[in-house]
Amino acid sequence: MSDDRLDMFTQRYQSHDTPWDTGITPPEIVQIVSELPPGKALDLGCGTGTNLRFLLQHSWQVDGVDFVAEAVAIAQSKLAAFPPEAFTVSCWDVTRLDECDALRAPYDLVVDIGCGHGVGADKHEKYAQDIATLLKPGGTLMLFTHYRSAERNFGWSPDDVHRLFSRHFTIAWEVLNDDTTTGAPSGWYRMVKPV
Ligand SMILES: C[S@@+](CC[C@H](N)C(=O)[O-])C[C@H]1O[C@@H](n2cnc3c(N)ncnc32)[C@H](O)[C@@H]1O
Repeated sequence: MSDDRLDMFTQRYQSHDTPWDTGITPPEIVQIVSELPPGKALDLGCGTGTNLRFLLQHSWQVDGVDFVAEAVAIAQSKLAAFPPEAFTVSCWDVTRLDECDALRAPYDLVVDIGCGHGVGADKHEKYAQDIATLLKPGGTLMLFTHYRSAERNFGWSPDDVHRLFSRHFTIAWEVLNDDTTTGAPSGWYRMVKPV
């Protein structure tokens, strides 16, 4: 795990410097949930659980993972009204998904909104492989990523996403845009694990 990134995110949650935590599920996730039958979903870097709650409201069974204890605690309280068997939220590092006993794979849907693009470059290949292992054949990966830039020392360009993920997934669509909260170049990807 990158202790620097854990420290940075912990400090940001503790100081409420979390502009991504809008409480609103992105339209890309709203759309996919309207298209897919309810199943099992995994949210990587789930933050305070806004998207876990949205999926639960639409009859999905969900597991969430985030390495910041404060975020996990908020997510657990946000979901407390749902049946306990319908969700888990684990304080865990997404670079070690293969060791996480709480996960209830195989999943129909994996969501990564701004998490994986920050893992260390030496972990990128394993991250993509772990997601592919956790998904069912025919399952969907929804990925949101920022691009690396002069101001941003992390992120995946469209070329990076294709290089890392196209060996495991078919890229159904990609939308390259500017992040609505930071204005930074970013991309949304819908990917499908081949049957
Ligand atoms: C930009 S925030 C997005 C949070 C959430 N997906 C959302 O859309 O509100 C990225 C999240 O990923 C988590 N994260 C980053 N690296 C992680 C890692 N290696 N393992 C687990 N969680 C991680 C952070 O703690 C943070 O909550």
